Amino acid sequence: MEYLGSKTIETDRLILKAQLMEEQKKLWEILMIPEVNRYFLTVPSKFRDKLKDWNIQEKYYEEEMKHAKDNNVFKWIIFLKETGECIGRISCHEATSENSEITDSNIRGVGWIIDPKYQSRGYGTEASKAMIDFMFLECKIAKIITGAAICNPASWKIMEKSGFERKKETKTIQYTFLDEPTEIYCYELTRDKYLLFNKNS
Ligand SMILES: CC(C)(COP(=O)(O)OP(=O)(O)OC[C@H]1O[C@@H](n2cnc3c(N)ncnc32)[C@H](O)[C@@H]1OP(=O)(O)O)[C@@H](O)C(=O)NCCC(=O)NCCS
Repeated sequence: MEYLGSKTIETDRLILKAQLMEEQKKLWEILMIPEVNRYFLTVPSKFRDKLKDWNIQEKYYEEEMKHAKDNNVFKWIIFLKETGECIGRISCHEATSENSEITDSNIRGVGWIIDPKYQSRGYGTEASKAMIDFMFLECKIAKIITGAAICNPASWKIMEKSGFERKKETKTIQYTFLDEPTEIYCYELTRDKYLLFNKNS
């Protein structure tokens, strides 16, 4: 793959930019909204209290920001073009961070959050399509493997609209802020299938 990093990506209504420290508090506040983190965060539940404490998180984000512009980091803040407001975050990380059996960095996972104030207006779809395009066409990754809670159609609809194929088997995941495991749909999309999907749609 080509390591192009979090290059600025522009769509009709959005600008996706490499992360900046000044937006992290706002993004953390969005992340701490239960309807945002419920089917998103998978860090072990024992970290719940630490996640809720900005003073602890701030240090973690400061460390992360030192690498925000590295060419192997694919994580963007989503800004509204019209107002410049930060409305979410989107990433394409190495799949190995979720599945240690995968060692090939050409195989990636994806993650996206949109501020609930701005959900259901097509921004999630617009940002994810642009990022997926960039990752397959410019960075030339081989494959994306991902999943979404069955009860989180807003996320798996985005995957299906981008051509991801749903696998027959479901999995269960322990999300950070939920007490019970949740059943998820599993999806994958190879570069070849993505190119074919785009050609036919
Ligand atoms: C998933 C998420 C990023 C989608 O962002 P969004 O900007 O609302 O997405 P869109 O407006 O582009 O909508 C995507 C699709 O989901 C549908 N949708 C949106 N909100 C929905 C809801 N609450 N219930 C059911 N479908 C919904 C939309 O109608 C659209 O489908 P369509 O094109 O067939 O009409 C956003 O809901 C979110 O941040 N959720 C919390 C974090 C999360 O779960 N991340 C993903 C973990 S896998």
